Amino acid sequence: MAQKTETARYDFDTIIDRHHTDCLKYDFGMERKGRTDLLPLWVADMDFRLPEEVLLELKARIDHGIFGYTDPKEGYFEALNHWFRKHYHYTVEPGWVTVGPGVVYGLATCVRAFTKPGDAILIQQPVYYPFGEVIQDNGRQLVNSQLKLQAGHYQIDFDDFERKIEEYKVKLYLLCNPHNPAGRVWTREELTRIGDICLKHDVLIVSDEIHCDFIYPGHEFHSFLTMDPKYRSHLCVLHSPSKTFNIAGLQVANAIIPDETLRARYKKENAAAGYSQANVLGLTALESVYTRGEEWYQELLSYINGNLSFVRAYLTEYLPELKLIEPEGTYLLWIDFSGLGLSETGLQELITDKAKIWLDSGSIFGPQTAQFERFNIACPRSIVKQAFEQLREAVSELKRNRC
Ligand SMILES: Cc1ncc(COP(=O)(O)O)c(C=O)c1O
Repeated sequence: MAQKTETARYDFDTIIDRHHTDCLKYDFGMERKGRTDLLPLWVADMDFRLPEEVLLELKARIDHGIFGYTDPKEGYFEALNHWFRKHYHYTVEPGWVTVGPGVVYGLATCVRAFTKPGDAILIQQPVYYPFGEVIQDNGRQLVNSQLKLQAGHYQIDFDDFERKIEEYKVKLYLLCNPHNPAGRVWTREELTRIGDICLKHDVLIVSDEIHCDFIYPGHEFHSFLTMDPKYRSHLCVLHSPSKTFNIAGLQVANAIIPDETLRARYKKENAAAGYSQANVLGLTALESVYTRGEEWYQELLSYINGNLSFVRAYLTEYLPELKLIEPEGTYLLWIDFSGLGLSETGLQELITDKAKIWLDSGSIFGPQTAQFERFNIACPRSIVKQAFEQLREAVSELKRNRC
């Protein structure tokens, strides 16, 4: 994420009150938890408002007043390819794209389209929890090849990866790139090794690239679509502008499948789920953000990078027991709390009851990471600061009580 030097045009500092807007992060989530006193840094949803130029286009569409069935047209694919070309030097054929309501919907559709009940599907924990849910909820077998944390950096254990594929006769692999919550942006070398192993064992690859636009300086995102075309016979890429522009509520995502046979299987399952026409405002939004959102996006990257620098410095100065897994991408920070020496319950008490912040706890991303917490830093810096100050106070109290 590039550091911006010129004067900022957009305001990411002002806190916009999201309470009572029926949002998951501040309203439903709190209701479910039965708490109103927690600062929410959990769900991957940003607290920033779309730029006015995009809002104007959405308002113009609303002003028409008719929201009947619709489908994506040329402008949609032109906007998509404009973004892909500009940022990642590739384009897709409109025919490869099936529009859907979300990336998780796409994951579940792939599971049903490409495997049978009981088939083994491989994931790499710690990973975004719906990866496991769409496997188990559809009666498939979850196979985990745990990512290895080596010197503060997550790595794929390729021997384990291939062994598990052979042992369980894995049919499908769900890749997260950039990886949530490990923060890795997989290199071309890693993607090549993944692709080669999958081709060798006839494993289909579903690459969830929803976080692709959040890449920190020194790292580069490679879509699986930019890799050797030989992998395309086994590939589905899932993509959406919903993280980058915070439009998850508009429900638009793309399943990009170059191979005709795989695509037909996906479309059949999509139809079986009863999904046909897309959300008209979602289509308008994708076209608009990719056409008019560049400047806002660049400033957003710079702002989030600033938040990351803030957290890094804060941890070093005030909370040295906590270890940040240095992210290469995403706005989600993965922090190791094991230095505090707390039990899993003790850690949850510290976070929720003492610090009064709401984070996604490591245990939901896999069984081996209960001492980790995931922080969403896509919010005004003052909120990030407040969260870490509350945490610091809670840790200080913990230490005082231990004395
Ligand atoms: C890796 C990953 N995939 C998918 C999603 C959700 O996608 P959608 O809202 O389009 O279903 C998220 C949201 O946090 C995510 O982190």
